Amino acid sequence: MSRVALVTGGMGGLGEAVCIKLAALGYKVVTTHSPGNTKAADWLQSMNNMGYGFKGYPCDVSDFDSCKACVEQVAKDVGPVDVLVNNAGITRDMTFKKMTKADWDAVISTKLD
Ligand SMILES: NC(=O)c1ccc[n+]([C@@H]2O[C@H](COP(=O)([O-])OP(=O)(O)OC[C@H]3O[C@@H](n4cnc5c(N)ncnc54)[C@H](OP(=O)(O)O)[C@@H]3O)[C@@H](O)[C@H]2O)c1
Repeated sequence: MSRVALVTGGMGGLGEAVCIKLAALGYKVVTTHSPGNTKAADWLQSMNNMGYGFKGYPCDVSDFDSCKACVEQVAKDVGPVDVLVNNAGITRDMTFKKMTKADWDAVISTKLD
């Protein structure tokens, strides 16, 4: 049976490449998108038209409860996650002295929490 790989933010630039590589290695690939992402269904459709068989789930990676609900749903639908690629992230690129506390919190909570 194929092992399950979960790639957060897999519909972004690097994430998509990671999803494709993991599929080529034989993983069943599941990815996440932000709950408000209106292009997620189109991305899944176009990838699956190419035969990848990806599954996508809404998840705000900066929110514990959202992550917990997502992982529970993935486990129910696809099986337990064997590999996690913690790829989702945002940038607020600027010099540190120009960065607000809100920018800092947004980057850290998305990348780490
Ligand atoms: N590209 C680079 O040169 C570079 C260099 C160093 C590190 N990185 C890091 O590598 C990762 C991927 O980079 P990328 O260039 O591929 O970025 P990207 O195209 O902007 O993709 C980032 C992904 O993260 C998802 N995401 C952001 N906030 C989220 C949230 N709160 N909940 C769920 N998903 C969220 C986005 O999903 P939605 O679109 O659905 O929101 C998007 O698919 C990022 O963590 C980035 O910081 C990139």
